[in-house]
Amino acid sequence: MSGWKAPVALVGARWALNKYRDRKRRPTPAERALDLAAWAGAGALLGVGASMVAENRRSERLNGRVAVVTGGTRGLGLQLAREFGAGGASVVVCGRSRDNLDQAVADLTGRGIDAHGVVCDVTDREQVRALIGETVERFGRLDIVVNNAGVMRVGPAEAMQDAHFTEAMDIMYRGPFNVAREALPHLRTTEGSLVNITSVGAYLTVPHLLPYSVAKHAWACLSEGLAAETGGTGVRVTTVVPGLMRTGSHRGVVFIGEPEREYAWFALLAGMPLLSTNADRAARRIATASARGQGFLVINPTTRIGMALHGLAPGTSQQLMRLTGRLLPSTPEHVSERTGNESGDSTMGRLAESVAALNERAVDRLNQDTRDRR
Ligand SMILES: NC(=O)c1ccc[n+]([C@@H]2O[C@H](COP(=O)([O-])OP(=O)(O)OC[C@H]3O[C@@H](n4cnc5c(N)ncnc54)[C@H](OP(=O)(O)O)[C@@H]3O)[C@@H](O)[C@H]2O)c1
Repeated sequence: MSGWKAPVALVGARWALNKYRDRKRRPTPAERALDLAAWAGAGALLGVGASMVAENRRSERLNGRVAVVTGGTRGLGLQLAREFGAGGASVVVCGRSRDNLDQAVADLTGRGIDAHGVVCDVTDREQVRALIGETVERFGRLDIVVNNAGVMRVGPAEAMQDAHFTEAMDIMYRGPFNVAREALPHLRTTEGSLVNITSVGAYLTVPHLLPYSVAKHAWACLSEGLAAETGGTGVRVTTVVPGLMRTGSHRGVVFIGEPEREYAWFALLAGMPLLSTNADRAARRIATASARGQGFLVINPTTRIGMALHGLAPGTSQQLMRLTGRLLPSTPEHVSERTGNESGDSTMGRLAESVAALNERAVDRLNQDTRDRR
């Protein structure tokens, strides 16, 4: 609040307070209830109004725009593509699997969205160049690019191989860098927006997710660095920091060490209501942040608390992580590696899935591989 608005607001608040104090008699319980209902009604109306205005603003900013979502074939990426499309943007999604891509494009066009799919592995600069080139050639412009593609391997670092770390860095550091370098020249001409979906793991290293955390740390660093270096160019870079989200991705994650036990704790936490966020809600917030050109978005309160704790007391957060690490399965003598779909097909896995039912619902809704489709 600035200029004349602050003194006017202060005078108004003072007047309301005096009015309240001047009341001659205590209100009856019925009058109090009526007051409360009136305030609640006004609050709800204000809330609905504000959200309608925000929704209209977002649609104004998305209508006629062109968005690319890497990894838009399933999970959060697919939901993001739906969000951009619902706002009136044309959407290009990419992924490595042709089948998933076709299903995603059919889903989007079925919703009336102007969608196109390109098979593209973000680790390959030539394929990324072709993805961006094809988008601009087909739609004539590029306004929003979401670096969303990612992979996850869960297990103790001792059981991981070099290849797991290399793969993570290739997909989640080299990939977004390839995309950024190919997209930025186009985004400069439209004063567009680059969105990077990092993770709480980038800021708070979680045990049994080391390749992921290492790569996400690099990705977050890249994102913040690009935000700083694009200042004054008209391009806006948004660093998104989600905690756990219910995208149904636990079924495709690869579990290493003792896969059944690793799957059980991960599937359970990934579906917990307070700890994890609904993918639709996360996508809505990301689309709004990108339309506004917001620099930083933390998706859920638990993530914010974790980041704050780590910033203020890194020693304490380290101790908590050490404690967490001790609760997780240790490295077995014989290390195995299985996907969530395979390792969840056990008593422990089924139990975790029934407790974390919310994430199970996301599996079909967000085009994830199911056991029936294997
Ligand atoms: N789910 C969570 O709890 C959570 C929490 C924090 C952050 N995130 C981040 O949010 C993003 C989306 O997560 P999600 O749960 O929706 O994951 P997901 O369901 O596993 O989807 C990942 C997407 O990325 C694509 N992909 C993977 N490697 C690729 C590559 N090299 N080139 C192109 N596409 C590739 C996949 O398609 P193909 O396999 O066909 O290539 C798929 O479309 C990821 O970056 C993830 O790290 C997720």
